[in-house]
Amino acid sequence: MYENLAIVGATGAVGRLIRQLLEERKFPYKTIKFLASKRSAGTEITFNGTTHTVEELTPESFEGVDIAIGSTPDEAAKEFAPWAVQAGCIVVDESGYWRMKEDVPLVVPEVNPEAIKNHKGIISSPNCSTTQMVVAMKPLHDASKIKRVVVSTYQATSGAGVVGEEELVNGAKAVLNGESFQNKAFAHQIAFNLIPQIGSEKYEGYTSEEMKMVYETQKIFGDDSIKVCPTCVRVPVTNCHSETIMVETERPISPAEARELFEKTEGITVVDNLGAGEYPMPKDCTNKNDVFIGRIRRDISCENGLTFWCVSDNLRKGAATNAVQIAELLVRSQAAV
Ligand SMILES: NC(=O)c1ccc[n+]([C@@H]2O[C@H](COP(=O)([O-])OP(=O)(O)OC[C@H]3O[C@@H](n4cnc5c(N)ncnc54)[C@H](OP(=O)(O)O)[C@@H]3O)[C@@H](O)[C@H]2O)c1
Repeated sequence: MYENLAIVGATGAVGRLIRQLLEERKFPYKTIKFLASKRSAGTEITFNGTTHTVEELTPESFEGVDIAIGSTPDEAAKEFAPWAVQAGCIVVDESGYWRMKEDVPLVVPEVNPEAIKNHKGIISSPNCSTTQMVVAMKPLHDASKIKRVVVSTYQATSGAGVVGEEELVNGAKAVLNGESFQNKAFAHQIAFNLIPQIGSEKYEGYTSEEMKMVYETQKIFGDDSIKVCPTCVRVPVTNCHSETIMVETERPISPAEARELFEKTEGITVVDNLGAGEYPMPKDCTNKNDVFIGRIRRDISCENGLTFWCVSDNLRKGAATNAVQIAELLVRSQAAV
């Protein structure tokens, strides 16, 4: 039985939500431990009414652990996942480090749940901007193959972790009070501004965040012929990423058909009444697990094109919810054996 759990990076923005989701969803477990860096070791966490002391992550941390859910920076994930696998533990990892490795399934349970069967100890969860997009693409792609996607993102500051969330709030206060403020999480002031760069320069003028959307989408659908043209922008919103998504399909999908496909899909909520001013907005989607879709309309610039607006809580479906759903799949797959 998978009954002994470790939460690695338990004190971070995603780690906190993983804890909350495990409680909310009554995830079955016998023992649980919370791991972080030396900085947070010794602090206390209350989980399901019991107080736990955060432990420092070490190579010995995974003895007797069956499933580890990790949400640490890439460098820490690179180091700890092999320790865990060596100890016989399955790692569900949120970081970017393992996602594109050949033997590591990259899983969004609404899209490619069957991929978990191929794991060799590590299963990755995609980047937050990719996850909500592929959930939205899936019912359309099943109806008619998606040949091309043009996506622009409006990404919240919580996507850069706890420090990103704080930088928007403290930076905004400083601007309003006419005080100086030193940016740490972002290269530029984010309060009252937009930053059209997320990640480093990677390929032909695209950033690392943008190329993640290209490679991860192709890997999740198992189809390298899907063309993706992304532009990723950091916006002064604390939580929930928004995206404009334009898809070109093999046969035309009308807005009415798309609406019906979205409405039938578990994990998607349609909010789409332009006349009444109803569409998904970050403030309404925060703390929700679904991917929200609105502004569904024909792409009038392209024969088989459809365009829509998509919002999701980057810390939930974009990270913690997806990881917990993968862990639930593991538990269910073992129960079925
Ligand atoms: N934020 C999002 O929307 C989002 C979405 C998808 C994926 N992700 C990915 O999820 C991961 C975590 O992101 P986050 O936003 O939660 O970051 P965060 O708020 O900065 O939290 C990072 C966590 O990792 C721990 N950590 C850092 N270095 C460590 C080390 N050397 N050894 C052990 N633990 C270490 C931190 O512990 P301390 O408290 O000890 O520092 C903290 O618990 C990243 O890889 C990120 O790319 C984030």
